[in-house]
Amino acid sequence: MIQIPRIIAHRGSPKAAPENTLASFRQAARDGAAWVEFDVVLTADGRPVIFHDDALDRTTDGAGLIADTPFDVLRNLDAGAWFSRAFAGELIPTLEEALELFAELGLGFNMEIKPAAGREQETAEVALATARASWNGPVPLISSFSRIAVATAKEVQPGWPRGILFDHIAEDWREAADKLEVVSIGANHRHLSREIVAAVHASARKVTAYTVNDAARASLLFSWGVDALFSDIPGTLLKTFP
Ligand code: G3P
Ligand code: MG
Repeated sequence: MIQIPRIIAHRGSPKAAPENTLASFRQAARDGAAWVEFDVVLTADGRPVIFHDDALDRTTDGAGLIADTPFDVLRNLDAGAWFSRAFAGELIPTLEEALELFAELGLGFNMEIKPAAGREQETAEVALATARASWNGPVPLISSFSRIAVATAKEVQPGWPRGILFDHIAEDWREAADKLEVVSIGANHRHLSREIVAAVHASARKVTAYTVNDAARASLLFSWGVDALFSDIPGTLLKTFP
């Protein structure tokens, strides 16, 4: 069974540095995180880059959909100034750049495949092929809310463990988990219960919960047996849960 640290840095350390940037991943390493979670999406011309939203507007000085924007245009955007002037000039990282940095910093990772609608298979294929070609470190966890993306990951990189993500864990979670041969079920922590954690554990799978930024809540979730939490404040939670 894959070893997943209890606290995973969610998009890096996004309260201290702009989310899903190399600066955020460096900060997560300084915070003491062993793993980071990041989101991977394709540009219009099919390059895998690290980005969360469908649209560029919130976290860059650009606008419009990332899926409609070619890589050369993205690379001229500022992905740090929106957060603070200190991070002006930060770029949207390519997947290769992020993995190279993780290797340098000794970070493990959870790659969340975040496909635009209709590009689920393509996004998973490109992200997995790129990651396979540029990563020699410890086995990562590959996850997605998209079952098509998880199924594609199973086909193209069967040796890398997979997780399905939910907001509310769906009624058919066990059937989907069996079919996709996943090792973890991820959920919004607000919709978890002691009972569902026990049920997932009874199927010999781990439970991951996002996004937990409160130590008391983390403590309760761990008391239910939740295996790992994604947090925007990994350094703070790691002080309580080293
Ligand atoms: O993978 C856990 C979490 O990142 C899922 O939600 O929207 O932050 O990508 P989101
Ligand atoms: Mg994510």
